[in-house]
Amino acid sequence: MTLLAVAVGGRGIVDPAEPVLRADDEALLRGRGAFETIRVYAGTSFRLSEHLERLAGSAERIGLPPVNVMELKELASQAIGAARESDAVLRLVWTPGNGDGAPTALALVSRLPTHHDALRERGQRLISLRGIRADEPWLLPGVKSTSYAVNMAAEAEAKRQGADDAVFVDADGTVLEGPTTNIWWRHGRTLYTPSLELGILAGVTRATVMELTDELGYAVEEDEYPLAELAGAEEAFTSSSVREVMPVTELDAAILARGPAADELQAALRQAALATLQE
Ligand SMILES: Cc1ncc(COP(=O)(O)O)c(C=O)c1O
Repeated sequence: MTLLAVAVGGRGIVDPAEPVLRADDEALLRGRGAFETIRVYAGTSFRLSEHLERLAGSAERIGLPPVNVMELKELASQAIGAARESDAVLRLVWTPGNGDGAPTALALVSRLPTHHDALRERGQRLISLRGIRADEPWLLPGVKSTSYAVNMAAEAEAKRQGADDAVFVDADGTVLEGPTTNIWWRHGRTLYTPSLELGILAGVTRATVMELTDELGYAVEEDEYPLAELAGAEEAFTSSSVREVMPVTELDAAILARGPAADELQAALRQAALATLQE
């Protein structure tokens, strides 16, 4: 990750190399922090309100102090201004500090990964890995916390096996999500994606894709699906803020066909981003 700019609550823009957390910060010691990753298109954060809303929900469920939305918006705008790259990645982080003092608010802007366009051309190779179905409140369903070591380890395992990324399935083989993406597939004119009731993250891009399907003439179904449904699909893709809509061309070393939906939705997503710039 190439960090371009950092803004800190109560301080404003700081040198990206400067320390910004206390040594006893709960986010550092126990992963009790909330964060968001947001795509910046031409200097504008896409769906910022939705991300801030999810951040506030994550913080509440982890038991952090309430998120200061105004402060984070201001920090985001300062960091984007200081970054001087108009297409970038914005991360918002909210930590409780040591639990006694003030929470910490951070806005980080980093360079867009350079390999995504090539990966979109080629398509992703996924492997299925056992994940946890977060169907109890203490498993923090739908929460984007800074405890992402398991997600990163799954991605590393996928790479170790020669794939690009993983898709989690629960103990019964029900498809969940990727470590940092939601998963979709298509049969005919219907797109399928796992239900939020499985405790997966309510992706902001997942919601955007749902809004875009109608005008493209696709129906959407959300439910519990076995991995065989994905493996037998006519095409598949993932959605996430940074990777956007990314085709899947291999699952567990078996070829998945390419289809029109991923490309159409990627184009529609970019158009939606462009439209918000003109608002
Ligand atoms: C576990 C998980 N699922 C799905 C997503 C996709 O969410 P979004 O579209 O809001 O980026 C992410 C994003 O990082 C994630 O971490």
